[in-house]
Amino acid sequence: MADIARLYSDRAGKMRKSVIRELLRVTQDPEIISFAGGLPNPDSFPVEDLEGVIKDVMHNHGKTALQYGTTQGLKELREALAERCHKDGIDATADDVIITSGSQQALDTVGKVFINPGDISLVGLPTYLGGINAFRSYEGNLTGIPLDEEGMRMDVLEDTIKSLQKKDIVPKFIYVVPTFQNPAGVVMPESRRKQLIDIANQYDLVIVEDDPYGKLRYDIDHIKPIKAFDDEGRVIYMSTFSKILSPGFRLAWTVSTGELTRKMIICKQALDLCTNTFTQFIATEFMRRGSLDLHIMKICEMYKPKRDIMMKAMKEHFPDGYTCYKPKGGMFAWVTLPEGIDTETMFLDAIKEKVAYVHGKAFHVDGGGERSMRLNFSYSSNEQIEEGMKRLASVVRHKLEKREVVL
Ligand SMILES: Cc1ncc(COP(=O)(O)O)c(C=O)c1O
Repeated sequence: MADIARLYSDRAGKMRKSVIRELLRVTQDPEIISFAGGLPNPDSFPVEDLEGVIKDVMHNHGKTALQYGTTQGLKELREALAERCHKDGIDATADDVIITSGSQQALDTVGKVFINPGDISLVGLPTYLGGINAFRSYEGNLTGIPLDEEGMRMDVLEDTIKSLQKKDIVPKFIYVVPTFQNPAGVVMPESRRKQLIDIANQYDLVIVEDDPYGKLRYDIDHIKPIKAFDDEGRVIYMSTFSKILSPGFRLAWTVSTGELTRKMIICKQALDLCTNTFTQFIATEFMRRGSLDLHIMKICEMYKPKRDIMMKAMKEHFPDGYTCYKPKGGMFAWVTLPEGIDTETMFLDAIKEKVAYVHGKAFHVDGGGERSMRLNFSYSSNEQIEEGMKRLASVVRHKLEKREVVL
């Protein structure tokens, strides 16, 4: 056999499989109730509405919608998104918006623009695994900043920046998911968002604000994105259609300013030439009809009871000693179990009981998180959530009993 691996770049050689992708393969067994993936509920997809939209797109724009587009993305879609930005308090024009092939591509583009091998960037402890993978694929080093119930801790952030400064190291960016954080579910309040901007201004740093879940609010008022407080063009904002319309569209957007936007477009060019033109037309028409906000309301109506069922079942069935912050929106609950439990090894027991989650270590760049796990509540049916939580509770109970024997 040809020994091709010897020719791999150092970069590719160091790349590892995504833990979540691997888990998702295991959880494809239909008997397994999966709280593992970050999947929207397929019953939320507006199939019928989209059938009509697609017909119109083909009829009115067929020849352009099936053609290549510009790397920056369809102007009408960028204009519509800039208008939505205004409603959120972000001062942006269509020129500041780039349409990307999912936020995942936006994260990859950020890595490509900023990271040289060995560069340091700052991320939450825990943080989104896809962000970790994207930044590490450019051989960046990630330093974790712990979260509390209000998101990334600003005292630790500032201390870390100061201690790096003493070694003449400037972190390339601070990556945050401030609203219904993946995986922890927490929301950074406005006061802390302003503090973060002040720190970035003071130390002349870039913030990457990743906001896929901000619109999935169940019992909290709208909160302005960090980008809304950015007077100096140092925040790269990104959001996606994946959780509010369809992840299969592979459609997301970034908002940034001036020269940085041009650099990001150049870096995206080699990734895909252009984002899927057809789905850009579909999303534009869906928004033009005023259907997106109505659809988001329907999703929230569907997910809020799921969140409640999961929290209630956890209270009823889980043994004492766990902690879980009740998420006010988004798709995830983050559970931390008592001392002595390792959720990575417990995963095999869970699979035997036909229930799945993602273990906490996957989201920690410092190797921590062994007692934690992320549970998704959007994907499963209400009945599956009830049943799955019972199964998971019994797995945890057994693990705790065994732990007591060992102690
Ligand atoms: C925080 C965060 N960022 C980015 C993404 C990627 O989303 P997309 O489907 O737009 O690539 C996800 C998906 O789960 C996410 O949770």
